[in-house]
Amino acid sequence: MDKISKKLLDKIDPNKLPQHVAFIMDGNGRWAKKRGLPRIFGHREGIKNAIGVVEGLGQLNIKNGTLYAFSTENWTRPEKEIKALLKLFRDNFISKKSRLLENGVKIRLLGDYQKFPQDMVDAIDELIEDTKDNTNLELAIALNYGSRQELVRAVKKITEKGLKSDEITIETISENLYTAGMPDPDLLIRTSGEFRISNFLLWQIAYTEVFISEKFWPQFTADDLANAVIWYQSRNRRFGSVEKK
Ligand code: IPE
Ligand code: IPE
Ligand code: MG
Repeated sequence: MDKISKKLLDKIDPNKLPQHVAFIMDGNGRWAKKRGLPRIFGHREGIKNAIGVVEGLGQLNIKNGTLYAFSTENWTRPEKEIKALLKLFRDNFISKKSRLLENGVKIRLLGDYQKFPQDMVDAIDELIEDTKDNTNLELAIALNYGSRQELVRAVKKITEKGLKSDEITIETISENLYTAGMPDPDLLIRTSGEFRISNFLLWQIAYTEVFISEKFWPQFTADDLANAVIWYQSRNRRFGSVEKK
């Protein structure tokens, strides 16, 4: 993917960057269908695109990114699509490792990824281990992730630790989510023109700015990311208070 153009970079205020940008990478199937191709071609293109967008985050010096790659509800898709998609994930976790290392990207996983085939779990574990010392960008990949399931898991963890009700705070819950230690997203981008959250980071997006792009995910470029950041910087985030003068 092309790098972000200088013209756009000049419009971005480096002191007002989002710390964390999260993506609902939607529209791979429709992108393929429009071209008369099987849906899996869209997934292949979508993964290629994700790498370009992640490099865009790096170019902007944004420190945290999250990609929604497979939801707990995506298991309801045809077996053939799931199988092909999981193979694409595994192959890319192996083949793109060197590129992630070059870019100083540290990988973390959100979701119960142990449910995937063992060769994919192994590839993920290796990626987490080999990238653990990188500091340019922390990239979370949400795989077999559902936000409601994440909250149930957090409540169970808290109960198992034996915490009393008056010891429960917002921080207690945050610390027991998959995203523990990550800043909440400042900007959430969903592609394909859908105005919904689809069980993604429900707790974490309490005050996130939401940007909907009409483009299908395989068409969403690093320049589109830069334009979303420019839009983000024009927002007045009040956090329930009144406008600052
Ligand atoms: C997003 O694209 C990728 C995954 C959910 C795995 P879709 O596969 O949902 O594509 P559409 O929304 O059907 O076009
Ligand atoms: C959300 O997209 C999940 C991912 C991008 C992984 P979906 O295509 O699954 O969401 P819905 O079905 O349109 O809500
Ligand atoms: Mg979809």
